[in-house]
Amino acid sequence: DKVPLLFQPLTIKNLTIANRIVVAPMCQYASKDGIMGDFHLVHLGQFALNGAGLILAEATGVEARGRISPNDTGIWSDAHIPGLKRVVDFVHATGGKIGIQLGHAGRKSSVPGYYAKNEPSDFWLDEVIAPTGGIAYDHHHRVPRELGLDEIPEVIKAFGSAARRAHAAGMDTVEIHAAHGYLIHQFLSPFTNKRTDKYGGSLENRARLLLEVIAEVKANFPAEKPVFVRISASDNVEHLDVPSWEIEQTVQVAKWIRDAGVDVLHISSAGNVHEQKVQYAPNYQVHFSERVKKEVPGLIVIAVGVITGGKQAEQILQEEKADLVAVARGFLRHPNIVANAAKELNARTRFISQYNMFLAKSDL
Ligand code: FNR
Repeated sequence: DKVPLLFQPLTIKNLTIANRIVVAPMCQYASKDGIMGDFHLVHLGQFALNGAGLILAEATGVEARGRISPNDTGIWSDAHIPGLKRVVDFVHATGGKIGIQLGHAGRKSSVPGYYAKNEPSDFWLDEVIAPTGGIAYDHHHRVPRELGLDEIPEVIKAFGSAARRAHAAGMDTVEIHAAHGYLIHQFLSPFTNKRTDKYGGSLENRARLLLEVIAEVKANFPAEKPVFVRISASDNVEHLDVPSWEIEQTVQVAKWIRDAGVDVLHISSAGNVHEQKVQYAPNYQVHFSERVKKEVPGLIVIAVGVITGGKQAEQILQEEKADLVAVARGFLRHPNIVANAAKELNARTRFISQYNMFLAKSDL
């Protein structure tokens, strides 16, 4: 029998993943001081035991001031490495692979009393930064100050140090978070970036931070390990008459980041404009990954967004709309989603223990 594409391995540089199912990054707000502990071992470990090809750990702060909540995971200091390594070692022991999303929330940092209602208020620092100051995301969020031109190198360096630590912890890849209205997306979108220096204005200028972050990450991460970027393909504000980030710009920037040596682009959407309109439905973002895959050959593309079934995922790959699929909520609802997809497609899962075999075969 032909092995379904979903269950064919894929090799990206020295990373070989057993199937095409990726666990999308999901913030859990379950850390103290950014450290991964038992919660993360069990939470991320379950995805490995359930046969995911690749796990992407949640958006993890490259700077303490770039956290959404005080309970975000962090990678801004070497003290974070042992907690990360413990999770990595477990995933590797099952034959799984794991990367980590490197994040900085910019103006969406430090949300008071929204995600973490029980935290002491003194956590919240006056350090909410954005490409342009003065405008909050919404009334839950703080009013940011503009990141000075002379302060930008410090932020870029933080991404590089984070990549070095991710490697030290044994991570198979890093994913630079340039999506969902966080700092790098804030620079990309003319909705949030009104700068007049070399980081604002033209598309090239707005993409400069992302490209400099990529260069710094690559300088601090082994060349044999792949680098991922997650991007929002659009601000989803066609109904508003505002400058915004759109798919045409995504396609152009995708070419630049491919040429900068990024291996994989993970294509989501939205998150930067509070008044956005998103129509959530199965495959709702697949047209974006399809477009990038067609127009930017050489880049490996991940589709994400309400992909929950084996046949559904297989069809996306068969129709060449993506090379990999990522699943977030589907994994929370159905932790055994990989075995169920294998059963649907009559394929084998990555063998970890007797229960994977059992789930994939049994009708009971
Ligand atoms: C998310 N999402 C997300 N995205 C991201 O890039 N970094 C993150 O840390 C998080 N955190 C997060 C937490 C939780 C609980 C959920 C449900 C989602 C978005 C996620 O990765 C994914 O893109 C969307 O959920 C759409 O995929 P699904 O859920 O339809 O498979």
